Amino acid sequence: MSKHYAVFGHPVAHSLSPRIHAAFGQQTGIPVLYVAIDAEPGQLSDALSAFADSGGAGANITLPLKQAAFVLCDDVTERARRAGAVNTLVRNGETWHGDNTDGAGLVRDLTGRHALDLRARRTLLIGAGGAARGVAPALLEAGIGDLFIVNRTPERTDALVDSLGEPGRVHPRYLDDLAALGEFDLIVNATSAARDGRLPAFPASLAGRRTAAIDLSYGEAAIPFLSWARAHGAHDAIDGLGMLVEQAAESFARWHGVRPETDAVYGELRAGHDVLVTAD
Ligand code: ATR
Repeated sequence: MSKHYAVFGHPVAHSLSPRIHAAFGQQTGIPVLYVAIDAEPGQLSDALSAFADSGGAGANITLPLKQAAFVLCDDVTERARRAGAVNTLVRNGETWHGDNTDGAGLVRDLTGRHALDLRARRTLLIGAGGAARGVAPALLEAGIGDLFIVNRTPERTDALVDSLGEPGRVHPRYLDDLAALGEFDLIVNATSAARDGRLPAFPASLAGRRTAAIDLSYGEAAIPFLSWARAHGAHDAIDGLGMLVEQAAESFARWHGVRPETDAVYGELRAGHDVLVTAD
């Protein structure tokens, strides 16, 4: 039985991860069998067991399953624990080991590919779901300044703020109070609002000439927020395509012990998703 890998999500058919991992495999000379598996949150446990029984050695987890997968892990890395969400599973004997490479992927994309200095940036994180949880610890570790978190459901904001454990630096706020918060140096949209409905209206006062606006989505889903940011004078408007490639490289390294080079794959995918990346 050859080792194989998969991304679990719902929906997952349009995931770029199989293509990214195949490209990494070609580049490194490691044979990679990697498929997409659709599973609803309630089916994830059974789907992962069946996958492990058939020789599944590792998996990526995408929305909306990152918090459900965390609960199914027997042990997790410190960064996954702080996030309360996993995007990478490694089969370890009879157990699943969980990691979260989203935050490292985002920081690598922003600081490496886009040459942004994140240090001391006054930051607004919109959203408190699996994606927001994945990136918040890494942003703090990268040296951002104060982190304000807002979410449609305030209880999830509070839970995320609590698990980050830096009360003097991380501040929960209500979506309705955004107009009172002033301008931010970094705004991260980690909601799925544009995917399943409409992005809430954000006050223009959040963005200015120093602002870097990041949407963790890519393709059509990133357009509303990044268009809003550009219209309000943001300096940078960056989608999540680079983060996707970087988190995949981190996962690949965990599974295969080799870190692939990401620029070629990023360039290929960017050619097919020329939505928005500006860094003037
Ligand atoms: P993901 O893995 O993409 O984070 P998730 O855990 O389901 O998926 O989280 C989705 C995020 O988008 C949440 O922050 C959600 O807000 P709630 O916690 O209130 O559900 C946010 N979101 C989704 N649709 C939204 C909308 N129409 N307006 C505002 N926020 C929305």
